[in-house]
Amino acid sequence: MSKKEELLRRRQALVPQGVGVFNPSTVLEAKGAILTDADGRQMIDFAGGIGVLNAGHCPESVVKAICEQAQKLIHACFHVATYEPYLDLCEKLVKLFPHGEQTKVMLTNTGAESVENAIKIARQATGRQAVIAFSGAFHGRTMMAMTLTSKTAYKLGCGPFAPEVYRLPYPNFYKFNDGLTHEDFVRRELTRFRHALVSVVDANNVAAVIIELVQGEGGFVAAPKEYIAGLRQICDENGIMLIFDEVQSGFCRTGKWSAAEHYGVTPDLSTWAKSMGSGMPIGAVMGKAHVMDAAKPGTIGGTYLGNPVSCAAAIATIDFMAENNLNEKAVHIGNIVMERFKAWKNKFEGVGDVRGLGAMCAIEFVKNNDPKQPDADKVAKLVTACADRGLLILSAGTYKNVIRILSPLVISDADLIKGLDILESELAKM
Ligand SMILES: Cc1ncc(COP(=O)(O)O)c(C=O)c1O
Repeated sequence: MSKKEELLRRRQALVPQGVGVFNPSTVLEAKGAILTDADGRQMIDFAGGIGVLNAGHCPESVVKAICEQAQKLIHACFHVATYEPYLDLCEKLVKLFPHGEQTKVMLTNTGAESVENAIKIARQATGRQAVIAFSGAFHGRTMMAMTLTSKTAYKLGCGPFAPEVYRLPYPNFYKFNDGLTHEDFVRRELTRFRHALVSVVDANNVAAVIIELVQGEGGFVAAPKEYIAGLRQICDENGIMLIFDEVQSGFCRTGKWSAAEHYGVTPDLSTWAKSMGSGMPIGAVMGKAHVMDAAKPGTIGGTYLGNPVSCAAAIATIDFMAENNLNEKAVHIGNIVMERFKAWKNKFEGVGDVRGLGAMCAIEFVKNNDPKQPDADKVAKLVTACADRGLLILSAGTYKNVIRILSPLVISDADLIKGLDILESELAKM
């Protein structure tokens, strides 16, 4: 029996099936964009631990920072004793992601925790209850985050969900353009949003709108720029907090520190995690100071928030990203991937759409060239076939019919091309 078979057998005996298996691969150790699996076989990583490893596996400076901090202080609890790594990290984040004149930061452990707290802050800041989220959204698996999440397959039997959450259609042009021009599509979607503030939920009861500028689990769908500008205007007119969930899109993935930079729109609040700490559990809620300060003492927080070792990892990760120009690398990777994807669209049956912002690239598979007929089977087969050939890939999309590229941004051109070659040769067999 291979070590892989042994591990998967032990997993099946010990771990409940609810903790899903998104890829049948195993891992012993990893460096950069290469994993070594439990049997010592090398694999190219196009999954990045679900978008966590923009700076690559185990960057040396991050490992060093973790070790040094662990020798000094592993935990104190920021509610109990103030420590410098927390503040150093906040200062860095505020410089990278200014939210207007003064920005404040609450550190967390995960993306879902960031989302939970952003909603609590928005509610306290507005004195209102309702939250608007979008179809195709993914915001995490804690109860409010899961309520905000769209995909019903992730929520089966988990209700009742949090009250006062309303869902509107995400402006997915590929799927729902209905023959409209881009401009007319955006106009229709914004009109629909305005109408919902009367017909679905009263604008005066809406605390926040939460949106992913580029949907992650939803299949790397980017909202049109003009839509986000319109949303900002609607929120301003109605005293609604606009929250950007940048958990998957942040920290160089799109070729900029934030997806928001592409849009030129400032949110009231934003949520972060994933690649921020190179795999150490850390996230953040950021926002305009007066909004962040609306949360009463004791209403937000937690034992582990902004753990010193995680803070040290995040500081070193951000420095590594800046020193190694990961934003430029993301653009370079995106160009290589998109060139191949576009060629496949002409070469292979069933490629419905190819899209990308920086290195946040995806290819969507459909039947009969119809955006509304997703082909999840093909994607499931590709994930398994690529794993057998030494390439780790992940699906995405409400219907699991999208393959997304989340490789570390430190991947060499040779490994990136080798990975794309594997994907292409498996696609050619389908
Ligand atoms: C946009 C977005 N928000 C929130 C989350 C939840 O993050 P976590 O899994 O760290 O709780 C995710 C995770 O995939 C995400 O992509």
